[in-house]
Amino acid sequence: MAASCQPIVPSRSARHSEVMTTEITEERHFDLGGDLRVARMGLGAMRLPASTRGGPAHDRDTVLGVLSRAVELGVDHIDTAAFYHQHGLAANELIRTALNPYPSGLVIATKVGPYRGPDDPYPTGQLPASGLRGEVERNLRELDRDRLDLVYLRPGGLDTPMDESIAERFSVLAELREEGLIRHLGVSHVSLTQLEEAQAIAPVAAVQNRFDVTRPEDTDLLKACERDGIAYAPYFPLGGFGIPDDERVTAVAARHGATVPQILLAGLLALSPVILAIPGTGSRAHLEENLAAADLRLTAEDLSVLRNRP
Ligand SMILES: NC(=O)c1ccc[n+]([C@@H]2O[C@H](COP(=O)([O-])OP(=O)(O)OC[C@H]3O[C@@H](n4cnc5c(N)ncnc54)[C@H](OP(=O)(O)O)[C@@H]3O)[C@@H](O)[C@H]2O)c1
Repeated sequence: MAASCQPIVPSRSARHSEVMTTEITEERHFDLGGDLRVARMGLGAMRLPASTRGGPAHDRDTVLGVLSRAVELGVDHIDTAAFYHQHGLAANELIRTALNPYPSGLVIATKVGPYRGPDDPYPTGQLPASGLRGEVERNLRELDRDRLDLVYLRPGGLDTPMDESIAERFSVLAELREEGLIRHLGVSHVSLTQLEEAQAIAPVAAVQNRFDVTRPEDTDLLKACERDGIAYAPYFPLGGFGIPDDERVTAVAARHGATVPQILLAGLLALSPVILAIPGTGSRAHLEENLAAADLRLTAEDLSVLRNRP
């Protein structure tokens, strides 16, 4: 784990001239975009309506309680999107209902890019550049905010990120940032080439790609984030499709008297000081279990067991 007070100062080459300086003042926090301090263990909102896509709906009062409890326990970074809705429950509306008026310091990250029609069970395509302003305005409205803290451009589908140009769409978000509707920009589900393309247009404060501690993929992207002081918030930190049944993780969990989800999360936090965990849950018990993982201290040996594929 990185020592406290480790400065991460980006180099300027091939990136936007505006320098973003990020200082990690203690290992439990990260200064997003250099000025929004968040606890490194946050909450993903995609699972508020239901634990799985198409699965049974969560009880509305229960998930409103999950959000309130999260903030009570120190969560100050919630990841959402306007297209996270199922069974008449929408993540943005639940966040607004549970938490507005928002506590100072609460960072709500959202993402735009995917297109989901009113009757689509999930996003089925991409919004064109011309559709992004409306989607940002929709998030502002649904969350009842004047400015969005962090907006990711999320290109592509579910397969491996491609190198299609994101310049036109990211430039729209950069304009909205200049107008004051967005504080920081991020990119999600991107290749290193796409990250660099975005950085040439405007500062990138965060990357959100699929990643969990047992996957060696994305090492280059993570290194680029460390070099440039960019937060890396992995999606599917718990595997995304059920908690992985992996003997490496089980062995480390047994050594620490912890659960497998806790080791997956503690492993992420131990892997890099720029990683922000955003596990998704609609369960208060799981929320509390996941947050407690921030107190686990894994060793370098634990990490090498987790990272070493059989
Ligand atoms: N940018 C993108 O393309 C993208 C894609 C997917 C997700 N995301 C974001 O990333 C966040 C995290 O990913 P995710 O929520 O999809 O997947 P995840 O965090 O890997 O896994 C969530 C699943 O694990 C279960 N779970 C959570 N804590 C648990 C625990 N302690 N024990 C047992 N099961 C537990 C949840 O069910 P319960 O409700 O029962 O706890 C849910 O089914 C999302 O919420 C969303 O904000 C972004």
